[in-house]
Amino acid sequence: MTLLFITFLALASVYRVSPGLGGAWIMDKYEKIVELARRRGFFWPSSEIYGGVRGFIDFGPLGALLKRNIEEKWRRTFIYEYQDFIVEIETPVIMPEPVFKASGHIEHFTDMIVECLKCHRMFRADHLVEEATGLKNLERLKVDELNKIIEEREVRCPECGGRLSEIRTFNLLFRTTIGPYEGNVGYARPEAAQGMFTSFKRVFEATRRRLPLGIAQIGRVMRNEISPRQGPIRLREFTIMELELFFDPQSPHCPVLDDVADEAIMVRTAERIIAGNEEPIKAEVGELVRRGIIKNEWMGFFMGLGQRFVEEIGIPRDRQLFIEKLPEERAHYALQTFDQTVWLERWGWVEVAGHSYRTDYDLSRHMKYSGQDLRVFQEYKKPRRVSKYIIRPKMEVLGPMFRGRARDIARAIEERLKDEEAVKELLESGHIIIDGLKISRDMVEVRIEEVKETGRRFIPHVTEPSFGAERLVYSALEYAYTEVEGRIVLKLPADIAPIKAVILPLISDERMLRIAEEIYRHLKKHGIPVFYDTSGSIGRRYARADEIGIPLAITVDGQTLEDNTVTVRDRDTWEQVRVPIDHIVGIVLGYSRRKITFKDLKARYAMRGSAI
Ligand code: GLY
Repeated sequence: MTLLFITFLALASVYRVSPGLGGAWIMDKYEKIVELARRRGFFWPSSEIYGGVRGFIDFGPLGALLKRNIEEKWRRTFIYEYQDFIVEIETPVIMPEPVFKASGHIEHFTDMIVECLKCHRMFRADHLVEEATGLKNLERLKVDELNKIIEEREVRCPECGGRLSEIRTFNLLFRTTIGPYEGNVGYARPEAAQGMFTSFKRVFEATRRRLPLGIAQIGRVMRNEISPRQGPIRLREFTIMELELFFDPQSPHCPVLDDVADEAIMVRTAERIIAGNEEPIKAEVGELVRRGIIKNEWMGFFMGLGQRFVEEIGIPRDRQLFIEKLPEERAHYALQTFDQTVWLERWGWVEVAGHSYRTDYDLSRHMKYSGQDLRVFQEYKKPRRVSKYIIRPKMEVLGPMFRGRARDIARAIEERLKDEEAVKELLESGHIIIDGLKISRDMVEVRIEEVKETGRRFIPHVTEPSFGAERLVYSALEYAYTEVEGRIVLKLPADIAPIKAVILPLISDERMLRIAEEIYRHLKKHGIPVFYDTSGSIGRRYARADEIGIPLAITVDGQTLEDNTVTVRDRDTWEQVRVPIDHIVGIVLGYSRRKITFKDLKARYAMRGSAI
């Protein structure tokens, strides 16, 4: 008894088992999944033999397959289906410092940090205060406001009760040097997007030279989170599945919106949140775009598609909610953002994707910082005659006025007045500020000429859907996790399940073993991940397969020896049908692509009985 209790305490500390009502010890779903994940090889803390490091996880054999299947499903949904205008690229994790100066991450990609003055542990200030006070959404507060709450509510260190320091900001980029040169600073990308922006011009020119153009990427990103404590939900290194859709702001129509326009989504809008009403509205994507709640058609398209994608990995629509970010919560590059969230038992609504309208922010900034022209040229169907301002800085006025600086000032005026809006400002108000100097109308000659224009040069606008792969892996596991008759059945959708079928000889009969091995070999030859299991009773083998979500179990039994049929058992209903061995590859392939269901199998095979 004592030994049992000690073992239980050890387990409780590993898996954080918590006391339930009435003193019963219960594990929440997260703890159950973490236990299963370690035991069967989905995921566990990285560098575990050295004690692990928070914010990093290893995927084991089953987890790596599950994650890869989710990534491949994302590719099928977002890229392959729309490959006539969406392409995939791959760019490095490390990028040089100027990229992140331009992107704004060096300036803005920060969190608030607070230190315990006694034990010197560091915490993310908003999260710590939220946990200590029960207040919500403190991310949007300014440093002073949060300092004031810490002082007024006497918030202390959660570990040792010590007093806390003043808050400071902490940049979440992982910094390194490129090569042996100290000054050659690089950063690990915190999002894949910057690779799409820096290579935009090349991709545009190498592909269709037309908009809309989507550039997608799946890759590792890093964020040096201050104190991540949520397993696979908040990681310092993770995989992002990201797509930048470049479009002409003068023709923002999304020609494929109809594919998802009738998809009803639940949305908590910023307007309602500000008015104190957190009740979501439910409406079709097409309607939300028409009503201007979603700011552009492309964003609506990706939100509808995103909901379908997440539903297909097992999270029902009523467990998904789009939450619009308030202006002060949005990333610096976004004009509008919706977090696509799913309901998780331990944490409530958790973001699995962000949908942002990034406008021309990134390309404009990279133009400015790199000095490269990243605008696109789109030819008109027919050339047009247009009136154009022709600008000539008057040197006869600028010379005596600015002397040695006159030429540079003239160049700056020419450059600035390439922009029609700037010319209009000069004409309307009689002056314009250029490089800090007041340039008045009489310093410049402005003529209007009729010219033939063959097209337009402009900076495309961008809408971005961005999904976190690890959060989706965890969410898929949480929704698949079921207990039936006291044991685990992982009801993962067949297309993302890591292993597609298990082959089971009913008993160790040599003829049955030979046939079962032959089926196993055959399925492997088709590149299908399958298991072969001969150890233990058939019931135990079914249970082992159910626990890791294998959708089909194929059993070779006595009847197989007589008529070359096997039983196929459905993981979710435990129903069985007899099918000819020759049909197995087709069945497993069709099933794992979700082209056929078990109902289809029953309709096709059960009615004809076992002898086919
Ligand atoms: N690109 C999306 C993000 O940084 O979260």
